[in-house]
Amino acid sequence: MKITDGIYYVGVNDHKVDLFEGQYPVPNGMAYNSYVIMDEKIAVMDTVDAHFGGEWLKNLDGVLNGKAPDYLIVHHMEPDHSANIAEFAARYPNAVIAATAKAFTMMNQFFGTDYADRRIVAEEGSTLSLGKHTLTFVTAPMVHWPEVMVSYESTEKVLFSADAFGKFGALDAKEDWTDEARRYYFGIVGKYGAQAQALLKKAAGLDIAVCCPLHGPILTENLGFYLNLYDTWSSYKAESDGVFIAYASIYGHTGAAAEALAEKLRAKGETVMICDLARTDLSKAVENAFRYGKLVLASVTYNADIFPFMRHLIGALTERGYQNRKIGLIENGSWAPMAAKVMRGMFEKSKNITFTETTVTVKSALNKESEAQLDALAAELIG
Ligand code: FEO
Repeated sequence: MKITDGIYYVGVNDHKVDLFEGQYPVPNGMAYNSYVIMDEKIAVMDTVDAHFGGEWLKNLDGVLNGKAPDYLIVHHMEPDHSANIAEFAARYPNAVIAATAKAFTMMNQFFGTDYADRRIVAEEGSTLSLGKHTLTFVTAPMVHWPEVMVSYESTEKVLFSADAFGKFGALDAKEDWTDEARRYYFGIVGKYGAQAQALLKKAAGLDIAVCCPLHGPILTENLGFYLNLYDTWSSYKAESDGVFIAYASIYGHTGAAAEALAEKLRAKGETVMICDLARTDLSKAVENAFRYGKLVLASVTYNADIFPFMRHLIGALTERGYQNRKIGLIENGSWAPMAAKVMRGMFEKSKNITFTETTVTVKSALNKESEAQLDALAAELIG
């Protein structure tokens, strides 16, 4: 697949993977992107997952047409992109590998060699001329590992953005970009908002016509849309107005309280997204908690603590730097309700979290008193 004059796609679609990075369900598969720049010198940009080495090399052969590549540019050492480096290096013994110093350290860890006799150690702003095309290397630590760099090809204005601007889903899956890009971003990079912001600042100084990420589609139009979303996400701002309600229920009474709140909010014209944490993938709940400006957490009291699904959600949010949000709490307990106290405590170290004045306490099942608390909580969330 030709992307521009001289830049080709040689990546693969993975429809066999069930859990990306061992934890994220990917019902529409995953794409591991790789590119080739054909010029006086030929550069291959990254490899693919271990299971697809043969297919990738075949794609590569189709573009190389008998020529040998001069360079392998390694933007990221996570195995979904780096698994075939050793095979590439053996197959093309004259090819030079360009990567950051940290990436070469990881190559030694993964493959037992850091290619000291055939490498270019990329520095911030260093360049590599291929003929008509020139690559500038830009470091992007923690987007998504410390060794990451992106590269900018100035002739055709192409940014090879590594994991940034990627999404879940194979390239032949027809689905909305934003939802699966948001779930991917907050799952994988969410903790590193400051580092993503640093990369956006560097990108702002570049004239980008095409963005070639390591996952998801090649972005060729309306790049401001994607850059704006990344700015919102990485600065922990709410993307959408509305309330996200996540509940963890055992016999349904806590769920009923959460649903009742949702109805009250909808009746007031509020956008509401609600999920049962036992039946929703954690990554989906995390994505929605970051998407909306207001969050309501409803949990039973369990073992003098909270239900495990709620503990997992709050843990996943706080470890990703959840901040700048208003949170309402609903607890249930038949003899000693304490879920609200536990949930509040879990956000103790989080920045700029405000709790609603109203906390709803359900004792076993909704009654007039707890219904009134739900009304008060709905009024506060709207107000
Ligand atoms: Fe797609 Fe962080 O690897």
